[in-house]
Amino acid sequence: CGIVGYTGHRQAYPIVVKGLKRLEYRGYDSAGIALVHDGLHVYKKQGKVSNLEEAVLGKNLDGHIGIGHTRWATHGEPSDRNAHPHTSQNGEFAIIHNGIIENYASIKAELTTKGYSFKSDTDTEVLVNFIQDIKINNACTLEEALRIALRRVVGAYCILLVAKDDPETIIAARKGSPLVIGIGKGEHFLASDASPIIEYTKEVVYVNDYEIAIVRPDELILKNLGNEKQTPFITKLDMEMAAIEKGGYDHFMLKEIFEQPQTIFDCLRGRLDAEQGHVVLSGIQKYATQISEAHRIIIIACGTSWHAGLLAEYIIEELCRIPVEVEYASEFRYRNPIVHKGDVIMAISQSGETADTLVAIEKAKEQGAIILGIVNVVGSSIARLSHTGVYTHAGPEIGVASTKAFTAQLAVIMMIALVIGKEKGTLSHDKYLQLIRELAEVPEKVKLILQQNDSIKALAEKYKDATDALYLGRGYNFPIALEGALKLKEISYIHAEGYPAAEMKHGPIALVTETLPVVFVATKDSYHEKVISNMQEIKARKGKIIAIITEGDLVSPTLADDVVILPPADEIIAPLLSTIPMQLLAYHIGVAKGYDVDKPRNLAKSVTVE
Ligand code: G6P
Repeated sequence: CGIVGYTGHRQAYPIVVKGLKRLEYRGYDSAGIALVHDGLHVYKKQGKVSNLEEAVLGKNLDGHIGIGHTRWATHGEPSDRNAHPHTSQNGEFAIIHNGIIENYASIKAELTTKGYSFKSDTDTEVLVNFIQDIKINNACTLEEALRIALRRVVGAYCILLVAKDDPETIIAARKGSPLVIGIGKGEHFLASDASPIIEYTKEVVYVNDYEIAIVRPDELILKNLGNEKQTPFITKLDMEMAAIEKGGYDHFMLKEIFEQPQTIFDCLRGRLDAEQGHVVLSGIQKYATQISEAHRIIIIACGTSWHAGLLAEYIIEELCRIPVEVEYASEFRYRNPIVHKGDVIMAISQSGETADTLVAIEKAKEQGAIILGIVNVVGSSIARLSHTGVYTHAGPEIGVASTKAFTAQLAVIMMIALVIGKEKGTLSHDKYLQLIRELAEVPEKVKLILQQNDSIKALAEKYKDATDALYLGRGYNFPIALEGALKLKEISYIHAEGYPAAEMKHGPIALVTETLPVVFVATKDSYHEKVISNMQEIKARKGKIIAIITEGDLVSPTLADDVVILPPADEIIAPLLSTIPMQLLAYHIGVAKGYDVDKPRNLAKSVTVE
């Protein structure tokens, strides 16, 4: 979910709505807004922010204070009724909430016996009435009531509260769900991330877990749950407006795919020096020896970042000879994992806020692990929780389906493997130099691949009506096959599976018919001949083959119905190239089918609930 708040001298409505649109990638099941001006005015609507805008046409939208929410449903279906803000039963205050209140059922039961009734199915409405109940029983301020409530609440939250009789103050609180406050002149901006704030101010405060913020036009007070004042730590945002606008592209996703020559370059810049022949990652320098001496690396991530982790396993084991395990964060956190002191946990996350990843690394940290974060969003929770880390520097990623953040993660992983392999002595100097040279060439090679955009669009037209698709690869290209399948299903809603090309014989081959497109990630590597055999197995069963191959490969085109030809690269580097055509294929199929590729159904960019 995304949250926005404004208090200051301007009209709040346009600022809050614009902010919600910037945050829409975090959830778009419903949207709502509360304004305080001669009372409390709450408007909410199922669907995108534009639906809300239509619904409020002609309504009184005055007010210098407002809070807004764009929702990704957890408790209760997406509907007007379940949309935020939720108002307390006595109509005195409105709340928006990002996160989950886990013990809401027991609190709800308690309130029900006291005569409270609920209009929605949400945990948030329970929370707002819980606060009301505490406020009445204790005859205390709203701030005090919130503090008491939060001591009882189990779960994660970022909350904004406004009161009918206070047209100046927003009270905010966070635990586990991000909150940034922008500081203006006589005004403050609140949001889940910096994108709605950047056009007004670059000075921000990242609120910490267990802090409450009391925000007025001229005042920002931070307190902990024990009511002790905290000093707000002001940071300067290093982000430009252009980074969060479409810049002439039809969709953020396409823009972000096309940005990759630059984002990969930015990721390598100042770290990888092809002329001098070295890689320096200042973020992990202090820990390089400890990492290289680790008995084991456990990688924790979700979604696309998990795929980057899987590739990291192949690369790190090859170059650094350290055993690597790759875990889904949601699984790791709930089993009883064995973590030894000195184990390295590599947490990979674009947003740095994914709830499962965050909790999983907290757990491992308690057990003595060293946390190495590979994160895109600077200052995010995972970045702050890590002992050491490397930012991916891909810039804000708005398209829900991850593209440029993924390739930047791969570039970082490759650099980490180079640094550790060298430190450990498991990587020969010649191979080290060769890989550095080749990594430096990636941005130019990606540019060449992007020039094939039109022909990939034509492929998309040809295959857009498929109902299923299979993505196959081996070795370093296996995680890329998984990622290709994920991209397609995320934005075109075509059922797609990624599989190791050989394992395909043990199940998915049963699906092969002459209408099934099978995408082979078949660049020239040590597995190539084996992949060719797998291609033959598909061909023999009349499957339609789309092969992503390396320039100079003369065999694959004789088996494939369609090919995309990539520039040559070392097999360790090649995944950075082979993933690009799959992003474009998924994008164009999604667009050809008429879907909103930037906001695919049911998904959210940043999943801050477990
Ligand atoms: C969501 C997004 C994915 C992303 C995953 C993990 O599901 O839609 O694109 O890969 O979360 O997010 P993270 O921010 O931790 O990389």
